[in-house]
Amino acid sequence: MTLAFNTVGIAGAGAMGRGIAQMCAQAGSAVRLFDTQPQAAVKARAEICGQWDRMTEKGRLDPPTAAAYKERLQVVDALQALADCDLVVEAIVERLDVKRALFADLERITRPATVLATNTSSLSVTAIAAGLQRPQQVAGYHFFNPVPLMKVVEVVAGLKTDPAVCDALMGYTRAMGHTPVQAQDTPGFIVNHAGRGYGTEALRVVGEGVADFATVDRILKDQVGFRLGPFELMDLTALDVSHPVMESIYHQYYEEPRYRPSVITAQRAAGGVVGRKVGEGFYRYVDGKAQLPAEPPVPSVAELPPVWVSTRAARRSELYQLLKDLGAKIETGQSPSLQALTLVAPLGFDVTTVAVVERLDPARTVGIDLLVEDSATRRRVLATNPATRDDMRDAAHALFARDGKAVSVIRDSGGFVTQRVVAAIVNIAADICQQRICTPKDLETAVTLGLGYPLGPLAMGDRWGPANVLEVLFNMQTVYGDPRYRPSPWLRRRGAIGLSLLHEER
Ligand code: NAI
Repeated sequence: MTLAFNTVGIAGAGAMGRGIAQMCAQAGSAVRLFDTQPQAAVKARAEICGQWDRMTEKGRLDPPTAAAYKERLQVVDALQALADCDLVVEAIVERLDVKRALFADLERITRPATVLATNTSSLSVTAIAAGLQRPQQVAGYHFFNPVPLMKVVEVVAGLKTDPAVCDALMGYTRAMGHTPVQAQDTPGFIVNHAGRGYGTEALRVVGEGVADFATVDRILKDQVGFRLGPFELMDLTALDVSHPVMESIYHQYYEEPRYRPSVITAQRAAGGVVGRKVGEGFYRYVDGKAQLPAEPPVPSVAELPPVWVSTRAARRSELYQLLKDLGAKIETGQSPSLQALTLVAPLGFDVTTVAVVERLDPARTVGIDLLVEDSATRRRVLATNPATRDDMRDAAHALFARDGKAVSVIRDSGGFVTQRVVAAIVNIAADICQQRICTPKDLETAVTLGLGYPLGPLAMGDRWGPANVLEVLFNMQTVYGDPRYRPSPWLRRRGAIGLSLLHEER
């Protein structure tokens, strides 16, 4: 394959610039690394060479190849030295004025055919290119940290970007061994936009007092298969980084309620309780390890009451089978006896509303989240309503823990934890498709590689039923009266036919 970019300049030799330089050298380009801080580029080159040495020691790189990489990677001490580059990737400070000034200089010194790319994660590519003579040569080229390990790269077309420029960057990304996805120039591009659902909805759950941080993390890891809970993730990325991103995307979308940040992170960021790097975030860290609070114990209950299941429960036959397997005494009458623990399994509605609408005794009513089938989860989640008696709550907890599966009991809210967070993720993803920011296929690729979710958000919607996700959103909209839960038209249209089926559609 002929390389589109034989000589590549990198401006800014910080965390990102050095990773990008490494990948470009490995792709076969001659790389020139420039930084305004004396010694920064020299230090960056030494670090990259150290990486190649370690790869050689481990047998993952042969010595002649490592030597060739090193020879291709050169430090330069003036911007002028990037004049004959085919591509220049900018990875300097995230400030529009500074980036604009650099691009004006680059445009002046480079050839007309040179592609000028920015690694910005939050600024508009169109705004960076505005005022230049050749905005068609400018594209976003968004890598993730750490660059060699994060295999996805967003290629972003500004308003005036020549499609051939994006195509060349897509091909070059593949030559690096990474996976390119193409995005329109919109706030957060794909990954930082699609990632809004997870943290913000989890923060809302905690902000409403429905469950604490650790419980929310446990539920989402055990029920959905996320590798990190949202609060563990925020501790890792640190709130001084992630809270401003939440605010920026929210404001850039003119206060779209789906992206509304939380006062919880605002206050914690202000207080310096930002995460693992300072030893304290949502969790405390001792020797870098999160100190997890103990799980509430399973209550011991001498005798379990009979159980009656609402006729409108989600996955009703599955719930009956589960109750049988757990050895419950099941009531099958039209209505529960006066002793019965009454189970409801709503989608989107809160337990209180269901009890009132179905004329059940709220004192004996407990909810269970069955969006995800029981056999696919490692945790069951129950919700009480404000009137639920302690003995009924304890009986439900003990019953559902009988086979050793973990159980969390949370307070009543529309949509439990998993329903809320999954619905928020799927709805935002659907809206990304609606806005045609990228293809559904690129969305799935970007999210699985960039965010490490167990499934792409559209596949997640299909996995637990687009109609169920829609039902959760419609009902939550009723419970909260909040436009945040308004289903995207894209989701409404595809609710009946599946989301990821239409991957190829643009
Ligand atoms: P950094 O602070 O580690 O490095 C920036 C480097 O640019 C510094 O060495 C600085 O001396 C140099 N610099 C500043 N002005 C310059 C100029 N006019 N010309 C040449 N060099 C200049 O920053 P980092 O984290 O590497 O970020 C760079 C860019 O990448 C930013 O736009 C950031 O938003 C973006 N980005 C960062 C990610 C991250 O996780 N750190 C992820 C994705 C994108």
